[in-house]
Amino acid sequence: MSVYDKAVKLLIDGCVVAIPTETVYGLAANAFNPAAIERIFAAKGRPRDNPLIVHVADLEMARGLGLEIPELAERLAENFWTAGSPLQGPLTMVFKRKTARALRAAPPQRGIIPDEVSCGLDTVAVRVPNHPAMLEIIRQCGFPLAAPSANVSGSPSPTKAEHVYADLSGKIPLIIDGGDCDCGLESTVVMFDENKIKILRPGAVTAEMLSEFGEVEVEDGGSIHSPGTRYKHYAPRAEVIAVEGDAEGFGEFVITNPEAKTLFAKLREFDELGAEQIFIQLPEPAGIGLALYNRIIRAAEFKIVKAEV
Ligand code: TXA
Ligand code: MG
Repeated sequence: MSVYDKAVKLLIDGCVVAIPTETVYGLAANAFNPAAIERIFAAKGRPRDNPLIVHVADLEMARGLGLEIPELAERLAENFWTAGSPLQGPLTMVFKRKTARALRAAPPQRGIIPDEVSCGLDTVAVRVPNHPAMLEIIRQCGFPLAAPSANVSGSPSPTKAEHVYADLSGKIPLIIDGGDCDCGLESTVVMFDENKIKILRPGAVTAEMLSEFGEVEVEDGGSIHSPGTRYKHYAPRAEVIAVEGDAEGFGEFVITNPEAKTLFAKLREFDELGAEQIFIQLPEPAGIGLALYNRIIRAAEFKIVKAEV
């Protein structure tokens, strides 16, 4: 039996499986099965009011979930969710659930995402991952997979199978090792307000890239719409201090010019070395730098020192 077959069997049985994606490792379960979703929250120790992203193989699969997909989102899907498109990248879109009346008029082909996934919100976050393991497993399952990052809640997101093992070994039946994640930072999360694109969590799909398709607004810092942005996040055991300006002369554990790909791995590495403090140089909060900035200030619990001379 191949490891994908094993994963599919476990997922059909309602178990959770750690699967690599292009952003970070995900802790996946059948998005239609409330009992399986409960296992995700239990394994991660995740707050019950922080909703999960539903992963689908393509736009067609998203269309079958009883959600209102605006035309603007269809255009974004064609560009960011489509393999081979020059703009292909990690984008999560938040959609409103269809009303009961609209559902009766056009029943979903696949099923309804239960309240447990979206924590009672009237919206559901959906994305198409770009990783052969995750895509193949979704296709073989035939149902969408709800998957948060496969770390214990609050710790840095896992970008290697070893990170998942360190956090969740003994709590889940299978981790698929796909090596290092290409992107190393979670997807950009957006929602729509008429023709406006609101960024709830910045990521590798930047405001600049999205602005080709409509007006973009960045809703950052304890976003009312994205419960996950309120929590302490990405924090290693060591104290993290975000440094604005020149990082020289700041002692042993300084991360200068942080990169998306390695940020979370470095935080874990310094913990293993027994660091008590980690200083991280803040990038300019623009483009992909905004996504990094967002993660660093959360890891630092918003402690920022100015190091300009
Ligand atoms: O790249 C990613 O997005 C990774 C991989 C595994 O796909 N997943 C991930 O999931 O980062 P998680 O659970 O760590 O973060 C999900 C974020 C949270 O900030 C959550 O609040 C937000 O998405 N979210 C989920 N559903 C939402 C909804 N219906 N409305 C607003 N925000 C939502
Ligand atoms: Mg997470």
